[in-house]
This record gives sequence, C-alpha cells and structure tokens, in this order.
Amino acid sequence: MNPLLKVTNLSKSFGIKSGVLGRTQHWVKAVQEVSLSLNPGETLGLVGESGSGKSTLARLILRLIEPTSGEVEFKGEKLTRLDHQAMAKHRAGMQMIFQDPLESLNARWSIHQIIAEPLEIQGWEKSRQQARVQELLKIVGLDLAVLSRFPHEFSGGQRQRIGIARALALSPQLIVADEPVSALDVSIQAQILNLLKDLQEQFGLSFLFIAHDIHVIRFISHRIAVMYMGRLVELGPAQKVGSSPLHPYTQALMASVPSIELGSKEFKAIEGEIPSLVNPPNGCPFHPRCPLADEHCKAQVPPFIEKSAGHLSACFKS
Ligand SMILES: Nc1ncnc2c1ncn2[C@@H]1O[C@H](COP(=O)(O)OP(=O)(O)OP(=O)(O)O)[C@@H](O)[C@H]1O
Ligand SMILES: [Mg+2]
Repeated sequence: MNPLLKVTNLSKSFGIKSGVLGRTQHWVKAVQEVSLSLNPGETLGLVGESGSGKSTLARLILRLIEPTSGEVEFKGEKLTRLDHQAMAKHRAGMQMIFQDPLESLNARWSIHQIIAEPLEIQGWEKSRQQARVQELLKIVGLDLAVLSRFPHEFSGGQRQRIGIARALALSPQLIVADEPVSALDVSIQAQILNLLKDLQEQFGLSFLFIAHDIHVIRFISHRIAVMYMGRLVELGPAQKVGSSPLHPYTQALMASVPSIELGSKEFKAIEGEIPSLVNPPNGCPFHPRCPLADEHCKAQVPPFIEKSAGHLSACFKS
C-alpha cells in the first residue's frame, strides 16, 4: 500500500531576533530530522511533553510553515516543491481540527457561514452549499436548528462537532487533529473520540492525532509516535508502544500518568527539566534525564532504527 503521507528528514529551526539591529541571535530547533508515514485509513497518534514540537510538525505537514530542510509527500507528490497554485489544489485533501473550537471559529459568523466557508472559497453554488452543510450536520450529529446560531451559544463538545463538520466539508483524506479533545470533559472526550473513529470507518480518513494524554492516544491510535525535543524517539504499533515501550522517555511518559488498567492513581512525574532547544545537549537529547545514560549516550545521537517489526526507537540501551 502506498502511504497517503510521507515525511522525510523534516526539520524546522525558528530564528529568534534580538538586539538593536534585530539580527537573528539564536535558533530554536523545534523539529529535527523527523521521518514518518501514514497509510490511508490509519490513525497515527503523536505524543510528547509541551514544547516537544508536535504542533510545529503538524504545521509543517500542512505547509502552513516552510521547513528548514526535509520533504513532505502527500499522495505521492512532494508538497515542499509545489508553488501556491499547485498547493491550493491539495489544501482540500488535508484539513486541521484544533484544541479550542471557539478560537478557531469566527465568533461573528453563524454556524452555516462557518461550515460553508470552505465550499464558498471553492466556488460552490449556494444551493449546493446548503445541501452539503445539512448533510455535514447530520454526519457529526447536530440538529439543523443550529444553523442560524453562533459559536458562543454551544458547549465545548458541540463546538468541536462544528469544527469537525467544517474540516470534513471538502471530503479530505487527511485530518490533522491538534489536541482536539484536551479542553473537553472526560465524558465529552469519549463522545468526540468515538465520532472520529466512526468518521474514519465511514470515509476511510487518515488522522494525525496529537495529544499529551497517553490514554487518549492509546484509545484512538493504530500506531503511536513519541516526540522529545523535536525528535521522534519511538514509533510503533499502539499495542506495543502502549504496553511494552522501548525508549526510557516513553517508559517515563507511561509511568507519569495514572494507569486505568493497573488501577494505579499515582502520578510519577518525569524527573529533571527539558533542556533548551537553543542549546540542546550533545548526544541523546534525553540523556540528562535518563536513568540508563552512559558516556556513549552523552557523545552520540542514537540512530532511530527498527528494533522489531515496525517498532522503532532511538536509544543505545533498548
Ligand atoms: N513561530 C515560532 N517562533 C519561535 N519559536 C517557536 C515558534 N513556534 C514554535 N516555537 C518553539 O518551538 C518549540 C516547539 O513548539 P510546539 O508548539 O511545536 O510544541 P508542542 O509540542 O506543540 O507543545 P504543546 O504541547 O505545548 O502544544 C517550542 O520551544 C516553541 O516555543
Ligand atoms: Mg502544540
């Protein structure tokens, strides 16, 4: 099967300007040498602490920002080489849903206007727009009566359904969901996650699903990718990464949340601070916090390689 999305050695450094001349003084290495692929109908969960580069990777994939180096291929075409016109054609195929729908939805627009906007931009006739919007409301489980209302009149869960309807408007193949349930109550989270799963089955959608909650990631994902300081440190089948993680960082991440299965209610925070992205440590980026680190780990970045079928890790020790 050809992957829908293929990311190769993708990197992004942000220049930080300071001083009277406004020269770039530092570079924040937000994403470094990330490679991954996503198959049609698959959900890849992306997890990592705050600042690990998840949103930056998402924005690079959708080409909302330009990479410093590396490639993004969507449906076999290298997006990084396309001009604006050619890129516009692909925009319909890749959509995003966000953490806070209230921030991402225009507050002064009616629900009809919000969901119809992508159709309007593509030049759909009004009557066709109307039929599509009604169909989308049904798909996401909202009543037709909501159409003339405004975002602030809805609960968080309903607003997320509106955000999903809008994202689905042009029948995308890829949806990048950046923390789509993080702001919702647990019971509402479950409803939205189940809706996303149903939509995936119905339309064969692929999801890149970002969350910091490992339980959410394990529930929704077929495969899980773990990010630390801009790099992937582990990638593999959800079952394997969830129950027998290879990388000490993933192990610490799993241990840092209460386990429902084991009935534990203990939080065990990962020890130590995340180092600076401006001056990352030599060698493995996790070595200053890693209980297994030795001289080798301090000197060289461990290669990101396959340790068992489809299960990759960047660690000399595991
Ligand atoms: N436009 C920018 N200019 C400068 N630095 C940036 C920019 N965007 C992101 N960064 C930096 O890149 C790093 C990664 O940020 P990013 O938002 O991708 O992390 P994240 O994993 O999504 O975190 P969170 O879980 O908090 O959403 C951070 O140090 C951030 O400050
Ligand atoms: Mg983010």
